[in-house]
Amino acid sequence: MSDKLKVSPIKAITGELAVPGDKSISHRVAILAGLSDGSCQVRNFLPSEDCVNTLRAMGQLGVKYEVERGTDNAPVDLNIHGCRGKLRAPGAELDCGNSGTGMRLLAGVLAAQNFDSVLTGDASLSSRPMGRIMKPLEQMGAKLDARGAKPGCAPLHITGGELKAITYDMPVASAQVKSAVLLAGLFAADKTSVIQPATTRDHSERLLNAFGVTTITDGNTISLYGQQRIRSCDVVIPGDISSAAFWIVAAACRPGSKLLITNVGLNPTRTGLIDVLIRMGAHIKDAVLHQEGGEPRGNIEVIGRELHGVEIRPEEIPNLIDEVPILAVAGALAKGKMTIRNAAELRVKETDRIETTVTNLREMGADVEEFEDGMIIQGGTELKGAPLRSFGDHRIAMAFAMAGLLAESGITTIEDTACVNTSYPGFADHLKDIRKR
Ligand code: S3P
Repeated sequence: MSDKLKVSPIKAITGELAVPGDKSISHRVAILAGLSDGSCQVRNFLPSEDCVNTLRAMGQLGVKYEVERGTDNAPVDLNIHGCRGKLRAPGAELDCGNSGTGMRLLAGVLAAQNFDSVLTGDASLSSRPMGRIMKPLEQMGAKLDARGAKPGCAPLHITGGELKAITYDMPVASAQVKSAVLLAGLFAADKTSVIQPATTRDHSERLLNAFGVTTITDGNTISLYGQQRIRSCDVVIPGDISSAAFWIVAAACRPGSKLLITNVGLNPTRTGLIDVLIRMGAHIKDAVLHQEGGEPRGNIEVIGRELHGVEIRPEEIPNLIDEVPILAVAGALAKGKMTIRNAAELRVKETDRIETTVTNLREMGADVEEFEDGMIIQGGTELKGAPLRSFGDHRIAMAFAMAGLLAESGITTIEDTACVNTSYPGFADHLKDIRKR
């Protein structure tokens, strides 16, 4: 896709759309299928740079796979041959690219291997905090050394080995940290538990179960016994609700719109955006059609209406954390005040998403107040097309492409949009298609 998106306002968003496979699930499938005890047919893998990097890392660790649909750089259907938990030392550094999920989850697995490894990433990933996984993994007995220019940041040197089970009281509500500890716990002798301060996405638990590993969820404590067999399993990955989110918001807040999103993941730990939009007055119906690999999936129907601002509750934040930039766009278009607080985690995503969202909203004429942990948007101002930057962040690029569609007037240009490929290959085509309806 080109390095620049040019978007003009659209009257309404109509038609039907299916988005590519779920990013969180694709990372986890690459890892669990690779560790399993046999061959796994994987369908609708997200053919994005982030997930391909995790797959390649598993390949460097000795896992074999064949691409059955798509290409080596963009696999959609593949057959992964599990290595029965026996990884081999990688011959080189493992490059996680832009992906915090890839790096943190792989670190959990590598902490338990009796060889050394190094995880690297791009400039953005090399400035994101790794201390949050180093602490529990060190408590389990691994040695981790963050050798980045910024303290506590990648490259991450890992000396793995035999681990001991721990109970980890996680200070931040992070599915990545929870998953890193649980994946390490798979190799420990006893029961590993993670206590989360709030519910976070539970794809790791659901997929572990699908791969034959028993997990125990007791309120916000998730546990597993190590040394369980990871059984091979075929997986069909649903569409990514975080990618669908851009279209859901665009259609929901533009009267005259009618959009159907098909085959999308409807895991309740990911649908916080829909709950908030409904509170804002949106007309959205979601229907779980079936469950596969423990993951509910179905369709979402959206009819456009005028929305009003609301306050996002603290406990809702982890379940819509990646959707805050596009929700902020909805807030700017809605009537009244939208309050997004308790979201300081946004400052350590692919960019500081509080700063990048506020900057771009202001460029388009929105009235936004920035706080350390969020923002308050006085909605109802007319958004005007403007020259914007993505700051190299895929979700900022896509959120503001939607803002460009929903602007009252003017052309919005977004520079540096190759990053969109980290989560939504084909986005630019969908943006073109939506105009033809
Ligand atoms: C993810 C968890 C979230 C989310 C990220 C993907 C995952 O991060 O922002 O895009 O797949 O576990 P945290 O769990 O660190 O908040």
